[in-house]
Amino acid sequence: EYIKELRDISYLENRLENILGIKKVKLVNGAVPAGDLKAEIGRMASQLLQQEIKNGDILAVTGGTTLAQVAAEMTYSAESRDVTVVPGRGGLGEDVEIQANTIAAEIAKKLGGSYHLLHIPDNMAEENIYHITKEPTIKKTLEILKRANILIHGVGTAKDMAGRRGMDEKEINDLLNAGAVGEAFGFYFNSRGEIIYSTTSVGLNLDDLQAINKVIVVAGGENKAEAIISAVSPKYQDILITDEITARKIISLK
Ligand code: G3H
Repeated sequence: EYIKELRDISYLENRLENILGIKKVKLVNGAVPAGDLKAEIGRMASQLLQQEIKNGDILAVTGGTTLAQVAAEMTYSAESRDVTVVPGRGGLGEDVEIQANTIAAEIAKKLGGSYHLLHIPDNMAEENIYHITKEPTIKKTLEILKRANILIHGVGTAKDMAGRRGMDEKEINDLLNAGAVGEAFGFYFNSRGEIIYSTTSVGLNLDDLQAINKVIVVAGGENKAEAIISAVSPKYQDILITDEITARKIISLK
């Protein structure tokens, strides 16, 4: 029975790799209470990170509740490592517990590495962004970020992310009416995978992902199926970690 289950999972993983066109899909068992799903995904992602990270690596991370679970599930490394962790983008309007800065610092501590942060206010006026990127500490973090060779990020539904980050009702409706279904680090995608809105901030642009050696995306829950389809592409990500139930939902939508 156990063997059969494993076979089913690897079959599903393969199907999803083909459908999304990405190199690797890893699935956790989706038959767990909703609250545990993120922890399961977090555990799998943290194990993957701990295996993959080598001395000299620069790891970029985003925020969100799933990434917070990745950080929480990581175990402390026995010795310190020459690894630098940086947030992938500046302020996006999240609560401090799930901001990329907080998660970068926690992951760095667990890995026994160092971190550099981006202390950028949320919703900055476009004209001020240029000036803030010239501030020495911000400039330094951004330079390190440009050399990141691993990125791990989450994906959310456009509706949830817009609401959580304090857009008002009209803005949310406009965004959804424009076709936004998914979100990843401040970029909102329509079902064809086109960016239709981006939160003003600093840090990675989507195009930068192509230069990053390994991009890992973590997102689970059936309600994220459309969002995952919109934000995941072989152009950007290498590895998707999700769950079985979400995988089946994605397959049914494609
Ligand atoms: O950018 C994507 C979202 O941060 C995902 O957030 O992990 O809390 O669903 P979540």
